[in-house]
Amino acid sequence: MQQLQILVLHGPNLNLLGVRERSIYGVLTLEDINAALKNHSAGLHSHLECQQHNSEGAMVEAIHKALGTKDGIVINAGAYTHTSVAIRDALSGVNLPVVEVHLSNIYQRESFRHHSYIAPIALGQISGFGADSYRLGLEALVRYLQGRQTS
Ligand code: DQA
Repeated sequence: MQQLQILVLHGPNLNLLGVRERSIYGVLTLEDINAALKNHSAGLHSHLECQQHNSEGAMVEAIHKALGTKDGIVINAGAYTHTSVAIRDALSGVNLPVVEVHLSNIYQRESFRHHSYIAPIALGQISGFGADSYRLGLEALVRYLQGRQTS
């Protein structure tokens, strides 16, 4: 089976994981999460590139670079989830399958977090399982892409 190329894109402030609001986001660092995901991806016939950006423009550029080089994207756009038409348009523009993930359950939190600009153009959203949201999101994306390869 062909190895799938996946971009895992983390948005603003996620570089502070392990320090930031630990009661909400847990104690794992971004490096911990990326290392566990990369480990997991080996059994899923997929290769991950993990990137984190604090600025909206850098995220848009990372999404553009995925065109022609990646098969799909797992994205936690952080606060840009709730504000960024530009990131949504970039994802629509490259037209790659996208899974949206969040560590916290955004629907249990402040109302401004209840709206996602990304959800309507994503395959699906996984929210509330801590670092497992990324693992579940990756598995869902890989299953989708493998299903497409064989059909
Ligand atoms: C988050 C939820 C967002 O509302 C918040 O702005 C984040 C992290 C999460 O993973 O739970 O930065 O995307």
